[in-house]
Amino acid sequence: MIRFATAGESHGPALIGTIEGLPAGMDLSVGMISGEMARRKMGYGRGGRMKIETDEVRFLTGVRRGKTLGSPVTIMIENRDFRNWEEDMDPNPREGEPGRGVFTPRPGHADYAGAVKFGHRDLRNVLERASARETATRVALGSIARQYLSLLGIDVVSYVVRIGTIEIPEDQLPPASMPFETLRNLVLSSEVFCPVPGIGEEMIEAIRTAKKAGDTLGGIFEVRTSPLPVGLGSYAQWDQRLDAALSQALMSIQAIKGVEIGLGFEAARRSGSAVHDPFVPGVDSGSLLRTRNHAGGLEGGVSNGQPLRLRAAMKPISTLYEPLPSVNIKTGMPAPASIERSDICAVPAASVVGEAMVCLALAQAASQKYGGDSVEELIAHFQGSEALKSKWEGEIGRGQG
Ligand SMILES: Cc1cc2nc3c(=O)[nH]c(=O)nc-3n(C[C@H](O)[C@H](O)[C@H](O)COP(=O)(O)O)c2cc1C
Repeated sequence: MIRFATAGESHGPALIGTIEGLPAGMDLSVGMISGEMARRKMGYGRGGRMKIETDEVRFLTGVRRGKTLGSPVTIMIENRDFRNWEEDMDPNPREGEPGRGVFTPRPGHADYAGAVKFGHRDLRNVLERASARETATRVALGSIARQYLSLLGIDVVSYVVRIGTIEIPEDQLPPASMPFETLRNLVLSSEVFCPVPGIGEEMIEAIRTAKKAGDTLGGIFEVRTSPLPVGLGSYAQWDQRLDAALSQALMSIQAIKGVEIGLGFEAARRSGSAVHDPFVPGVDSGSLLRTRNHAGGLEGGVSNGQPLRLRAAMKPISTLYEPLPSVNIKTGMPAPASIERSDICAVPAASVVGEAMVCLALAQAASQKYGGDSVEELIAHFQGSEALKSKWEGEIGRGQG
């Protein structure tokens, strides 16, 4: 099964990611990853760090001449800012205290809880790893997972639906029928990755206003997929449910505080008849169709053949240029929370990370279902499974009834 992990500190020498369980013979190149890496750095409201980092990805293991070997793939992203932090972040022992210690915990960050947990006296030991700089690695690994999913005909796209109080109204959301390429172009033409131009402008204005006030903003992004094969995930055991895996994947992103699937929280307000998606027979017998997709592509923790529709809510950025009150842990005296170079709003970037995490969670689920040591074997297993689905559907209407 596909598994992955990340390592690295925000101002350390490099970020590292490793992903294993990929089939041998899969096309993989830095060029396939660089577009997503560039997209994560974009978005109106980002801070100065994004201008320093080039986020170039290097393959260290598992790939030879543009093809996966079936062994673990390791990627490295050098932190260019490390040259300004060599003394503070040197992994080797050094005399004296590092110069840029942090002693005033920032509300909304891991600073306090992490310091108590690990016994750190310098909060930098916490924030260096808790920082969302780590998401650069997830986006790189997510691009690899996307490449794997493309072998199964699965595509994933995301866009921003809300920043602060500015939200795309329900009737202006891109229709489910909109081709992903069209949607992607609309998203990319917006500085906040909002596919509705007028609303995007209002979002930018809201970020501008927050910045002037020394404040920050959060928001909501949506991730959609093309129709998934039926049967990813399982209701048979709690930890095999795909809805749970996708929620964890999205909730694991720094600052994400809520996840909705399909209608999400709105479903709790409606009666059942206005929520669940009726079945109707296909025009040619041999298939079941749905009249809508309120379930967001998942029933019983299993993909039901519909496109996925997921939303994630991001809280406003915690670092404020007009800082909240805090306490200096050296002096015990009130002090404004410390400031690390920071974004005003990172919802557009988070949407790219969300897309990557959905790719990784789906790749995991697909690799569990189909297995396959090589691309050839994976595709044979996938086609076998699809043939069984056709057989199952072919029996519709032929029963005794
Ligand atoms: C793409 C991205 C960029 C972020 N940039 C910042 C930032 O510049 N400043 C900041 O204070 N928080 C930023 N955050 C959020 C923090 O990393 C996060 O709030 C913090 O680590 C605490 O974790 P929690 O909010 O999940 O509890 C960012 C999050 C994401 C996903």
